[in-house]
Order: sequence, then structure tokens, then C-alpha cells
Amino acid sequence: ALLARVSEPLLAWYDQNARVLPWRSDPTPYRVWISEIMLQQTRVEAARGYFERFVEALPDVFALAAVEEDALLKLWEGLGYYSRARNLKHAAQIVVEQFGGRLPADFSALRKLPGIGEYSAGSIGSIAFGLRVPAVDGNVLRVVSRLLSSRADVTLPAVKRELTALVAGMLPEARVGDFNQSLMELGAVICLPNGAPLCLLCPLAGLCEGLRTGAAPSLPVRTAKKPR
Ligand code: ADE
Repeated sequence: ALLARVSEPLLAWYDQNARVLPWRSDPTPYRVWISEIMLQQTRVEAARGYFERFVEALPDVFALAAVEEDALLKLWEGLGYYSRARNLKHAAQIVVEQFGGRLPADFSALRKLPGIGEYSAGSIGSIAFGLRVPAVDGNVLRVVSRLLSSRADVTLPAVKRELTALVAGMLPEARVGDFNQSLMELGAVICLPNGAPLCLLCPLAGLCEGLRTGAAPSLPVRTAKKPR
């Protein structure tokens, strides 16, 4: 019942507060794909300049499929995790050869491309194609854990699966890409990690169990893996 009431205020907040970002202003499948791969391990503000340079140098999937390795790595230099760049090129070659240069508008087909996991298939599928699929990254796990005041360990695959299913149940009929981005955005600018959420500014404060119980700042629970 709580979760059914999330999308409306969250989308209204997003409409007023979403950062203007180059992949949002012109969300072609190619641009959404490149941005989501960059944003897997790189913050929005750091990725921004790299994104602009990358899509200027390689404006479409055909240019990416044909790029020389050193030119590609030069464009990626400083972003780290260079396998992401190699996977992009490999995936571009597959998209050219198997899909005529068009990214597939299908979750499982996206998921099979090199470098595209569960999260990226969800974000690209929903943002670029409007597919009704969730996109759950670390930010979203934090937001949902706090909303539910859940102390379940989000490093456990079973917990991640359960929270992903809950997000799937929150998806609105329309604007799924915006909805997924609004959850990420809330995590990035309001529902901050390290015990410092800005609950006074949160559009979901009235719904949030974590705020009500006082547990929000200490959530989510993570064992073992990297502390955040
Ligand atoms: N992190 C990953 N994808 C994002 C997006 N589309 N907007 C904001 N942050 C993100």
C-alpha cells in the first residue's frame, strides 16, 4: 500500500528538480546506452564531460563499432574500468551485425550484450524504450530500504531480488524511464548515504517508514562488501 503511493509524488518532484543532463535532453537509445555504462562506476558530474566528448567523437553505433582501440581508450582515459569501453565496442559490433545498427528494445536481448547486466538492461530498456522494467542500483537499494525501514542486508542476492521485485510493483503505467531515474535522482541528491539524508526536502517523507522509525540514516545494512 505504501509502495503504490510512491510514483505520483516522486514524479512530481522529479519534474521540478531533475538535473538537466545531456543524455536526458536527447535520450536516443545510443546516448542512453553510453551514459548508463559510464554511470555504472562514475558519478554524474564526473561522467558528464566524458559523455559529451564521447558522443561527439563517436556519434552512433556504427562509429563505435569501427573505432580503433587506442582512440577508444583515449576517450575513456580517466574513467577507469577500461573493460567497459572494450565491452561497448564489442556490443556495438554485435548490434551492427545482428540488429542492423539498432539497439534491441527488449530486456533479454539487451541483457545478453557485453557490458549490460541486470541494472543496465533495466535502465536502458526503460529510459530509451519505455519498457516496464525496474532499474535497481545502489542508490535505489538505499532509497527503498529506508522507505520500508528494512534491515535486510542488501549485499545478499536474495534481498536484492526481493527489493527489485518491490520496485517492479511500484512502476507507474507510463513514464517508467522517468520513474526509474527519479528513484536514482532521489538517492543522489536527497536520500544521501553516510547517515546524512536530507529528509526535510524529501517528497516521500510522509510515506517513509525509515524516517518515522528514525532508522533511515543507518540504512541500508550491508555486511562484508565495500562500506559506503
Ligand atoms: N545513475 C545511473 N543512471 C543514471 C541516470 N540516468 N540519472 C542519474 N543518475 C544515474
